[in-house]
Amino acid sequence: MKFLRKLVILLIVVLVAAGAWAWSGIYNIGADAPHWKVTEQVLAFVRERSIEHHAESIVSIPDLGNPALVKLGAEHYHEMCTGCHLAPGMTSSEMREGLYPKPPNLTRFAPDPAEAFWVIKHGIKMSAMPAWGKTHDDHKIWAMVAFLQQLPHMSVARYQSLVNAPAQAPSPAATSSAPAAAASTAPAPAPASSR
Ligand code: HEC
Repeated sequence: MKFLRKLVILLIVVLVAAGAWAWSGIYNIGADAPHWKVTEQVLAFVRERSIEHHAESIVSIPDLGNPALVKLGAEHYHEMCTGCHLAPGMTSSEMREGLYPKPPNLTRFAPDPAEAFWVIKHGIKMSAMPAWGKTHDDHKIWAMVAFLQQLPHMSVARYQSLVNAPAQAPSPAATSSAPAAAASTAPAPAPASSR
């Protein structure tokens, strides 16, 4: 009984101390002040296990090699994701440099499809990763997952052609110069836009 009472008192002291510490404002919430190594490891463990656990139930995965799906995904990725996750030909961005945790460079590895689907749909708390499921249906999210499978070995030219393609047909520059030289093979070699 005595032991239990001591334990309760200790617990109260710890809680009051923690409350006082939080109230004091000493904690530096700045994104440019990294966590301790151990905090980082614990957070990474919680994040990875949570994603793995929640992605387990995602079993009906569409055909990720479908070119139309990849193209749709490329268009959405180009519009919404490159500032944080980069694209072929990009080495950094002004937003990315200041983010903590730093978004993974998705031109370097292809994430597991089910896990990527879950993360894109639901986002990640207390990080900059938004829940895109609030504004995008599952089909569009799978499209981005399909695109991400190809991104790591995608050339700048192929990326450009995927994301520029909607503007291809009406482009006056392409129609005036293309027929003479490259008529036979390539369906319009993406007008060299540099971004
Ligand atoms: C404002 C920045 C930001 C934007 C925009 C953003 N993300 Fe993220 N994303 C993050 C961060 C930060 C993480 C890592 C969070 C962490 O480590 O806790 C992340 C993680 C991910 C992961 C998990 C990668 C892994 O390690 O397995 C995927 C997949 C992903 N994002 C895809 C996307 C896609 C697709 C888009 C566009 C629709 C997007 N993100 C837009 C910041 C962003």
